[in-house]
Amino acid sequence: MRTPLIAGNWKMNNTRAQARELVQALIPLVTGLQGVEICVCPPFTALDATLQAIGDSGIRLGAQNTFWEEKGAWTSQISPDMLVEAGCAYVIIGHSETRGRFGTVDGTLAARLGYFGETDATINAKAKLALAKGLIPIICCGETIDERRAGRTDEVVRGQIRACLEGLAPEQIAGLVIAYEPVWAIGTGEVCEAGEADRVCGLIRQTVREMAGDAAADAVRVLYGGSVNDRNAAELLAKPEIDGALVGGASLKADSFSVICKAAAQG
Ligand code: PGA
Repeated sequence: MRTPLIAGNWKMNNTRAQARELVQALIPLVTGLQGVEICVCPPFTALDATLQAIGDSGIRLGAQNTFWEEKGAWTSQISPDMLVEAGCAYVIIGHSETRGRFGTVDGTLAARLGYFGETDATINAKAKLALAKGLIPIICCGETIDERRAGRTDEVVRGQIRACLEGLAPEQIAGLVIAYEPVWAIGTGEVCEAGEADRVCGLIRQTVREMAGDAAADAVRVLYGGSVNDRNAAELLAKPEIDGALVGGASLKADSFSVICKAAAQG
């Protein structure tokens, strides 16, 4: 039985003071929920303030990115050891906004986005080091609108999963989290229809089964992300292949985020 995970990706939102306020508002709303794991992923600068506010509430802390080298001359990067020391249990890796926003680059932004764009190979390297350091990666995948319209969704998602998990042991894959986030659904209000989200999450699990066997496939948690909110969460989370949600905008308000957590809880 997989415990659902509801992870809030705050993106570049919340100062330390705002982070404290949000967590303090959230705690009473989610205290006592059973059978759901809740995680918040603040910006790096608010990790410690968030951890303090979390206290002994049971909410887990996650980061929004990490790096594939342990230390050294990598200006601006944050290592897994630093995240572990900061109290993180989870780390998001390969979000479409770090892969290169919306997966495409227009002419004027192309040169700049090239520096930020990460690939399946960098995601794979980050996941390996994160796992070695005891973090649980939340590995993001998902197709762009052009890929979906071209009927390439399954091929794209399966390819991302194969490349991002390459070289990981089945026991490592069993413990990590994969988030299916169709790029066209992120921050747009255009949620993926629940049946289709379930189908692609099932395809991801099938790909894991082929790579790492039944035990890993049955254990790995596959989340859906992209415009999840307090109104559509229950339908998505009721689907058998969807083990939780990666929530952006709706995680910035304690009341909407808590409704999503309740929709995943057992009682
Ligand atoms: P959204 O973002 O919920 O605001 O669409 C989800 C995400 O980017 O993880």
